[in-house]
Amino acid sequence: MKVLVIGSGGREHALAWKIGRSPLVERVFCAPGNGGTASIADNVTLAADDLPGLTRFALDRSIDLTVVGPELPLVLGIVDRFRSHGLSIVGPTAAAARLEGSKIFAKDFMKRHQVPTAACVVCNSFEEAMGAIRRGDLGFPLVVKADGLAAGKGVVIAQDRQQAESAVEQMMRRRVFGEAGERVLLEECLRGREASFLVFSDGEHFLPMVPSQDHKRVFDRDRGPNTGGMGAYSTDGILSSEEQQEVVEAIVGPTIRGMAVEGNEFSGVLYVGLMLTPDGIKVLEYNVRLGDPEAQPVLFRLENDLVEVLQAIHGQTLDSVRLRWDSACSVCVVLASGGYPGKYPTGKSIQGIDDAEAVGQVTVFHAGTRLQDGQLVTSGGRVLGVTAKDADLPAAVARVYRALEKVRFEPMHFRTDIGRHG
Ligand code: AMP
Ligand code: GLY
Repeated sequence: MKVLVIGSGGREHALAWKIGRSPLVERVFCAPGNGGTASIADNVTLAADDLPGLTRFALDRSIDLTVVGPELPLVLGIVDRFRSHGLSIVGPTAAAARLEGSKIFAKDFMKRHQVPTAACVVCNSFEEAMGAIRRGDLGFPLVVKADGLAAGKGVVIAQDRQQAESAVEQMMRRRVFGEAGERVLLEECLRGREASFLVFSDGEHFLPMVPSQDHKRVFDRDRGPNTGGMGAYSTDGILSSEEQQEVVEAIVGPTIRGMAVEGNEFSGVLYVGLMLTPDGIKVLEYNVRLGDPEAQPVLFRLENDLVEVLQAIHGQTLDSVRLRWDSACSVCVVLASGGYPGKYPTGKSIQGIDDAEAVGQVTVFHAGTRLQDGQLVTSGGRVLGVTAKDADLPAAVARVYRALEKVRFEPMHFRTDIGRHG
């Protein structure tokens, strides 16, 4: 089989790595890929949102199966387009991808299907938002969210009325997130522990993955601005089996069934961002694809042939698959360019990846890297995701930090507390 992976981050390197291990696969392509996928797949210079180019490529090269990493091509309708050309692709249609593409669609959907989530007010205009903030119905802190895609940055937790007004001003008047700020959501601020719960779904059946947790803030102890994710870990203990059952029964089941009933069958990976509050488990957000960096520690524990799972999603036979997971704990620590999520330099030489992997039970997934005259250099904010596993979480954490000491590029920043509060 020839498999095409779309995207260029750590998640896509992990996908290409796992897919490349399948005996069913002769060749893996990655569009556009990165410096890491270049060594295990054929990188194709097509952007992840170049839908016509990707379709042409898949037809010309007779690609047997395509897997989509990031949300943008899904929201733009890549699955609909590939299917209309008779191409096999795993992921939700544009209609189903609205669960991530529009936070307001997601909220209305949860209301229709009694999926527990934070109370909210939808604001269609600046005046409406200001009025709702002034009335203070949802209290403070208040969460302000841009409706559309904003690369994980469209959420502000406003401590008081002034911060809330300024967030709305930025989103709706200054349009710092572009069209995503045409409408905003004001949401009750939930308190508790967060967890990421991902499932494979074929539209009718679904299979939960092992739970994981990411670390979104740039600095230790969850300080500083939000990023795409500075690290993640996966252990069975993140959610007890009762909690997992609650998530499946009260959240995932009603979501997959609700989408099917409304004629928008959800096929692919559904990612539910959860808050474990004192009044039960509630949904913070849906994503319609694997998380990045959650994909790295989760796929690191998957023992099945991923291609068989993807084929079962495509063929709607997921009920015949049993997922098998390594009981080990896994941790991924992101090595970022100093300055990220603000400005940072690129083109800096990277050393020590082989030494890091020589520690054992370690794989270094690339994100913002590229090859320049045969030399690996930095090309993005999140550069590498050093991923390790071990029998328990403290051992996995110790191993990952032992490995990442071997890696060098300038200026490098990473969190020193990934997986330490688990
Ligand atoms: P989202 O993109 O909706 O997941 O939001 C990003 C992050 O903002 C989440 O991972 C939470 O840490 C935080 N967040 C979002 N919504 C809420 C909420 N209603 N209450 C508290 N924190 C939230
Ligand atoms: N790690 C969060 C995300 O992928 O959206």
